[in-house]
Amino acid sequence: MKPLLLLILFFTIFSTTGAANFVITSPPSSRQVLKWPFAAWSIWNLPIGNNASYEFGNIYLPNTATIEADPDIIVLNSSNPLTPIYYSSAAWTGASRCQASSSTIITKVPFPSDFIVASDGSNYSGAFLMPDNVTIVQTQPICHCTNSTQTSNVTTLTKTISVSIYGDGAYGSHGGSGLSSIGGTLRLGELIPDSNGTVHPVRHALKGNLWAVYNYYRNGSAVSSCFRWPATGCDGYFADGKSDQYGGTNPYVRPGSLLALNTSININNLGLKTIPGLAIAWTLQNYGMYLADDSYWNAAALETEISPEGNYVTQFKKAWNMDFTSSTNAWAVDVRSLFRMLSVVNSWNKNMWLNVSSSNGTLGAGGGFPLQSWAPPFANDSNIATPVSSSFIHTSSNSPKNSTLANNQRSINACNLTTIILAIVLIILCIQW
Ligand SMILES: *[C@@H]1O[C@H](CO)[C@@H](O)[C@H](O)[C@H]1NC(C)=O
Ligand SMILES: *[C@@H]1O[C@H](CO)[C@@H](O)[C@H](O)[C@H]1NC(C)=O
Ligand SMILES: *[C@@H]1O[C@H](CO)[C@@H](O)[C@H](O)[C@H]1NC(C)=O
Ligand SMILES: *[C@@H]1O[C@H](CO)[C@@H](O)[C@H](O)[C@H]1NC(C)=O
Ligand SMILES: *[C@@H]1O[C@H](CO)[C@@H](O)[C@H](O)[C@H]1NC(C)=O
Ligand SMILES: *[C@@H]1O[C@H](CO)[C@@H](O)[C@H](O)[C@H]1NC(C)=O
Ligand SMILES: *[C@@H]1O[C@H](CO)[C@@H](O)[C@H](O)[C@H]1NC(C)=O
Ligand SMILES: *[C@@H]1O[C@H](CO)[C@@H](O)[C@H](O)[C@H]1NC(C)=O
Ligand SMILES: *[C@@H]1O[C@H](CO)[C@@H](O)[C@H](O)[C@H]1NC(C)=O
Ligand SMILES: *[C@@H]1O[C@H](CO)[C@@H](O)[C@H](O)[C@H]1NC(C)=O
Ligand SMILES: *[C@@H]1O[C@H](CO)[C@@H](O)[C@H](O)[C@H]1NC(C)=O
Ligand SMILES: *[C@@H]1O[C@H](CO)[C@@H](O)[C@H](O)[C@H]1NC(C)=O
Repeated sequence: MKPLLLLILFFTIFSTTGAANFVITSPPSSRQVLKWPFAAWSIWNLPIGNNASYEFGNIYLPNTATIEADPDIIVLNSSNPLTPIYYSSAAWTGASRCQASSSTIITKVPFPSDFIVASDGSNYSGAFLMPDNVTIVQTQPICHCTNSTQTSNVTTLTKTISVSIYGDGAYGSHGGSGLSSIGGTLRLGELIPDSNGTVHPVRHALKGNLWAVYNYYRNGSAVSSCFRWPATGCDGYFADGKSDQYGGTNPYVRPGSLLALNTSININNLGLKTIPGLAIAWTLQNYGMYLADDSYWNAAALETEISPEGNYVTQFKKAWNMDFTSSTNAWAVDVRSLFRMLSVVNSWNKNMWLNVSSSNGTLGAGGGFPLQSWAPPFANDSNIATPVSSSFIHTSSNSPKNSTLANNQRSINACNLTTIILAIVLIILCIQW
């Protein structure tokens, strides 16, 4: 028994010594279009500029609020069989989305027959790369209940919105804003340690959802008032007179708003408890987060990838031993506190974007010199459908422990208290035996 205990002790200590660090590594010199799509001047890729003007967001997010994922369905392997997506009226009615409601084919997209997307009421905004390897077709909510085409079609509700994977990519099928189904999504490998335990910065803007009842502004029932550029609309129920209508009082906060931590904030002094929390703080300050949809309950969401290569939240859980969706864990505490500090980049509109996008890297979102350099050119991929997941999946059992910031050497500790207590108990047991 004693050798076994020693073995467990050894393993426990070793499993806690592996450190993951957030390191502000230098930007790569090229990028893969499937992993990091759209032009450098896309809203999703532009860093914020140092002359941006901020208005405090005053986001309502109580301590009971859940931080959750709003998964986007992403299929970028265009060699998959062209598969019809049938119309289903089920959508968010609670009815099953598994069967088509009619023989209407909304579109045909490359789709793997064994890629299952449950009928569970989620938004499942979908993005599919077409066989030309350029066009991304988007529609929602995607459903594919079984891999048997005899019993289940792929289904969706909305008509498609197509963009170029090399273009501005702003638009897609997020129903509460019209924004992209893939731009701004947390992709596999992001906020996740690489094989050396290094968490690299996420160098693109994010997408998020807040509870519209408390956060999203409207002026009466004027449709033009319930969103702002780059959004093209808001939820149909925004002024329906029911308990779900938009009720925010801050006119700056609407679907389409770019939220960010202003540059007066030192993210190292916020007392963040987790490494992904620190890493996302960096992205919220340098790139920001566009409001894409209504979380519709006491929650705030970030859009995350579900693809044939994997499910982001599963990867997050494996890497950090924490649920992505939680109202109580250290990650949720970090994200809530960050969201409450967000401001709106108010000097950001279509005209400013036209100026910034033609500045060849000298301007950032909101105006002024970009806080980070623009996204690098695309690698000359001969086979662009290279799998995106394998080299990014963190397979070691390292638990988050330390964060080393390259620029100023500040660090935070995120030791797993349970593991420490377990180790102490084991030491006591060993001594007694
Ligand atoms: C892409 O899909 C095709 C057809 O399903 C498959 O043979 C191929 O292995 C896939 N490629 C990658 C990189 O996953
Ligand atoms: C897909 O749904 C349509 C409409 O319900 C149905 O006619 C068709 O048989 C289904 N396709 C397959 C391959 O099951
Ligand atoms: C379909 O799913 C079943 C059950 O999950 C599995 O056994 C089978 O191999 C799958 N078939 C294909 C073609 O993927
Ligand atoms: C889901 O999409 C619907 C329809 O587009 C939108 O009204 C709502 O804001 C979204 N809800 C969630 C849970 O994100
Ligand atoms: C890990 O570190 C080694 C040695 O410094 C380096 O060669 C390798 O490229 C690194 N791996 C990653 C994924 O950065
Ligand atoms: C709200 O709409 C009314 C009537 O259209 C307009 O007079 C008022 O200025 C608007 N308020 C704001 C804050 O935009
Ligand atoms: C920056 O954000 C912080 C925290 O949200 C806020 O207290 C501060 O007033 C803001 N500063 C400026 C200059 O906007
Ligand atoms: C865009 O640039 C032009 C020319 O430099 C300038 O006159 C205009 O005010 C700028 N527009 C915005 C919205 O910054
Ligand atoms: C754009 O910027 C790059 C350097 O970042 C420079 O080499 C290039 O000449 C610039 N192009 C134009 C048209 O100014
Ligand atoms: C910075 O923004 C202010 C407005 O907020 C504007 O008046 C000024 O021209 C801008 N400066 C530069 C260098 O873009
Ligand atoms: C698209 O990419 C796939 C996978 O790399 C490749 O097999 C195919 O030939 C490409 N199609 C076009 C039109 O370039
Ligand atoms: C944690 O980071 C600090 C600051 O860089 C460093 O001195 C220390 O060695 C690190 N500790 C571990 C366990 O990695």
